[in-house]
Amino acid sequence: MDLSDVRFLKAAREEAASIVQFQLAMAKESEDLVLDPTVCAAGVNAVFERPQLGEYHVCQVKVDGRFKTVGNLLIIPEWSDWRNGMVWWIHSVYILPEYRGRGLFSAFYRHIQKTVQDSSTLRGLRLYVDKTNLHAQKVYQKIGMSNAHYDLYEWIKESKN
Ligand SMILES: CC(C)(COP(=O)(O)OP(=O)(O)OC[C@H]1O[C@@H](n2cnc3c(N)ncnc32)[C@H](O)[C@@H]1OP(=O)(O)O)[C@@H](O)C(=O)NCCC(=O)NCCS
Repeated sequence: MDLSDVRFLKAAREEAASIVQFQLAMAKESEDLVLDPTVCAAGVNAVFERPQLGEYHVCQVKVDGRFKTVGNLLIIPEWSDWRNGMVWWIHSVYILPEYRGRGLFSAFYRHIQKTVQDSSTLRGLRLYVDKTNLHAQKVYQKIGMSNAHYDLYEWIKESKN
């Protein structure tokens, strides 16, 4: 794909509905989870209402002269006392199926990585991936990320719904 027809930018509030659709599709595809659309919409909107939570970034491709949003990711900042700076967690990575395998996510990642590289306060990037999502794991290895350092542990409260 000609990357001059691609742009990456911080998501505008008007994109919340597309982002919700991307999240529902991503949860189903990557973890076989059916998310509650109302809960997910509230979760996405919360990011736009409370910017301290994080920020969505979108990948847009020019189609018939107009930019179309074809993917997104969510940046969640985490303070690192060891490094006296922020580490950005990359969440909710999704590229529409028909736009995959053209280097869009690689370019998206490089764009985010450059922001961190050029910043005096950002220290690095982290993400976690479902153990069964072998495709995404291969992609993350291919773009130069490493899983050699940490294992992730979690406890998530049962949903009352
Ligand atoms: C994972 C995902 C974001 C990748 O997006 P993409 O735009 O297709 O990725 P790219 O085309 O940029 O590929 C990235 C690199 O991985 C390589 N790659 C892609 N699929 C691969 C595979 N199955 N095995 C090995 N390498 C692979 C590509 O060749 C490319 O390397 P290159 O730049 O050296 O050519 C996309 O498949 C997706 O949205 N998946 C569903 C949601 C998901 O699983 N999200 C992750 C949750 S943690």
